[in-house]
Amino acid sequence: MKSFNNLLLENASIWKMPNRSSKIYYFETLESTMDTALALARQGCESGTVVVAGCQTKGRGRMTRVWHSEKGGLYFTIIIRPDILLEHSARIGFAASLSMARSLNQLFGIAAMVKWPNDLLVGCRKISGMLSQVEAQSNRISFLNIGIGLNVNNDAFELAPESTSVKSLLNKIVSPKEILFDFLNRLDTLLSDSKAIISVMDEWKKHTITLGRKVKIVTNQGTYHGIARDVDTSGALILELENGMFQTVLYGDCFHQ
Ligand code: BTN
Repeated sequence: MKSFNNLLLENASIWKMPNRSSKIYYFETLESTMDTALALARQGCESGTVVVAGCQTKGRGRMTRVWHSEKGGLYFTIIIRPDILLEHSARIGFAASLSMARSLNQLFGIAAMVKWPNDLLVGCRKISGMLSQVEAQSNRISFLNIGIGLNVNNDAFELAPESTSVKSLLNKIVSPKEILFDFLNRLDTLLSDSKAIISVMDEWKKHTITLGRKVKIVTNQGTYHGIARDVDTSGALILELENGMFQTVLYGDCFHQ
């Protein structure tokens, strides 16, 4: 009889990446890489395991939004078991958005900047978004799943007008696999360097276009208007409100004004 794990991976092929041992499972279609990665993580898969989909039928964005996931884009979730405390877990997300910004820059000369917390923008158009999911026991992280959607060869702006893609910026088709491998190289290197991961917030601050700007922040508790002043060690945004008071926001949507 087939185990649940085998059933789950029945339609996957394996992408071999030079000098990397953790598995990269590629599926032509998934509902969401987040669901498959969650199941694998709960079954105890190795840290660094990646689930990639050619397209998603139920791609999820932040704040319960849909992430349009037609063929041509890069959609994946990486399962990480970091040896850090839960309160520092935001560092991993910041390391991931920074790594993707560097990949786009090094591979294609695309100057992507980070909008808090982890969106990548080129000019004022979104090219990539990130979703994370954590499971922890008390203060220890069991796993942290980071899902990234990057508009590569898909015409994202037809569905989301304020977005762009690598293809529309370069006017040519590129390889989503090449981008993923470059990204994984950078992220693996960053995560294996304990000093670099501590200073990742400072690096992120050099690549963000949010700090110092007038922003609107929408949270489940309410909407705030103010100037984005800083990001604290938990990844929360520190806002100076219009009345001069300061507000810390851990989770929300950020709109540059
Ligand atoms: C956002 O900007 O709202 C976050 C988008 C995250 C999309 C990625 S695509 C791969 C992974 N699977 C999903 O269903 N969502 C994330």
